[in-house]
Amino acid sequence: MYNTLITDLENGILTITINRPDKLNALNKTVIEELSNAIDEVINNPEIRSAIITGAGPKAFVAGADITEFLTLDAAGGKALAQKGQDMVFTKIENAPKPIVAAVNGFALGGGCELAMACHFRLASENAKFGQPEVNLGLIPGYGGTQRLVHLIGKGKAMELLMSAHMIDANEAKQLGLVNYVTTSETLLDHTKKILEIINSKAPLAVAACIKSVNAVFDETKNGYQTEIDAFGECFVTEDMKEGTTAFLEKRKAEFKGK
Ligand code: COA
Repeated sequence: MYNTLITDLENGILTITINRPDKLNALNKTVIEELSNAIDEVINNPEIRSAIITGAGPKAFVAGADITEFLTLDAAGGKALAQKGQDMVFTKIENAPKPIVAAVNGFALGGGCELAMACHFRLASENAKFGQPEVNLGLIPGYGGTQRLVHLIGKGKAMELLMSAHMIDANEAKQLGLVNYVTTSETLLDHTKKILEIINSKAPLAVAACIKSVNAVFDETKNGYQTEIDAFGECFVTEDMKEGTTAFLEKRKAEFKGK
């Protein structure tokens, strides 16, 4: 179905593996287009409750945008590349109403670090390395890196990493709040799936409302508190809210339907 992705649906979790290991899973035009389609699939297929994005091979999550595609671009071309990527993939992941989590299994550089940051949260294996090395190429991040890195680790450290191209390892990424857990390479996917299985057992519309409300913190066009108030109110007319509260009072496990 995809040329550059492997997808696997199990227990409502779609694992999306970017599969160009000989190029360290660099994001070329095809990967961006296929990722866009895969995210649409996550959003639209009711059998999919959540998703994991990871990279093929032992070495890389994603080592960045594909540098070979940069050489012929002018200012308008560069701008279009960034705009298209943000619209088709990065912003779409961030605003997806189902959890999308990065399982970072190696280098997450440039667009790879940005892809991980666009996800709702991140786990990393011990060999993971994060960085925004674009200044080495005379560039800056174009897929939201200057924004999301500040959101996740704060202005001072983000400034340092962006301007120095310095790479950090998984443990430093955890100390900075860039990843939630550091695991072995062998346990990375299982650990990620365990967390998603817990989330998948909760009320889907409430989970979606968490994503929407948290994202409103970072959206200057929205009042986050008002977004929360509205989303809280909307929960009251869902079947799942009736089921969740009734199940609690009846001392039984709730059966959520996402309605
Ligand atoms: N775009 C295109 N190709 C890339 C790539 C990228 N971002 N990152 C790695 N590759 C390719 C290499 O060109 C090489 O291809 P080849 O075998 O045809 O020569 C292959 O992937 C393996 O990479 P290599 O550099 O040989 O591996 P390494 O272990 O020596 O180094 C890195 C690993 C990640 C340090 C190094 O590949 C690197 O610095 N990559 C670019 C990172 C970057 O600047 N990303 C931001 C882009 S905006």
